Amino acid sequence: MEITKYPRHLAIIMDGNGRWAKKQGLMRGFGHEKGVQTVREVVEYCVAHEIPYLTLYAFSTENWNRPALEVKALMELLVKFLKKEADALHKNNVRLKAIGNLDRFPAKAKDALLKTIDRLKDNTGTTLTLALSYGAREELLTAVKQLSAAVKEGELTTDAIDETVMQRYLYTFDLPDVDLLIRTSGEYRISNFLLWQIAYAELYFTEVLWPEFTKAHLEEALLSYQNRERRFGKISEQLK
Ligand code: FPP
Repeated sequence: MEITKYPRHLAIIMDGNGRWAKKQGLMRGFGHEKGVQTVREVVEYCVAHEIPYLTLYAFSTENWNRPALEVKALMELLVKFLKKEADALHKNNVRLKAIGNLDRFPAKAKDALLKTIDRLKDNTGTTLTLALSYGAREELLTAVKQLSAAVKEGELTTDAIDETVMQRYLYTFDLPDVDLLIRTSGEYRISNFLLWQIAYAELYFTEVLWPEFTKAHLEEALLSYQNRERRFGKISEQLK
């Protein structure tokens, strides 16, 4: 079957790097390195098929609790990725965005990220959003704090707070809702990712580990998405 209906916003929880490495008898870091190759392939796919928004969960607020060496390795991988891929991303008209609390990031990683974001800021193709030091509860709390400050300052009334206003205070203020969320590695959890934005998303789980996730696996997920009926609370007949 041919894919004719692509999601506007695809989000992915890239999981299973550590288990993949273990399976090969390698250190966890090799799994993350191999995972970066999958990132590159998935980005290229989205560019080629004009999927406007791709959001990847690259580092959660909870990931800070991993062994210091692994955290360091992940930060270095991010910097390496940005340096190595910036030209290709630019050529592919990709815009880069980061969501999360970057204040916790080492200066070198934050610098590389902000520089690349700036370099790609006028691109008009796929928006690649990296969730880094990201947690949905933290995002929502930040929004609530800013909203209450705005009310206190008299810039906003409590009654005026609706979904559109709330959306403006999220890290994802300029992204549409997620249409399809994929999680790899046979885990059936959301793990504090985009809780507000996935309210009506289709969820797709696969046993495949992230380093082994190929274009064919992605197409399986996209076909599954295409064959689902999104009713948004309505009944089938109302959609016709
Ligand atoms: C989950 O695997 C993956 C991560 C915590 C990090 C994801 C990062 C990358 C794919 C590489 C860096 C990304 C970019 C964009 C440069 P896990 O370690 O939790 O695997 P496990 O559950 O098998 O232990």
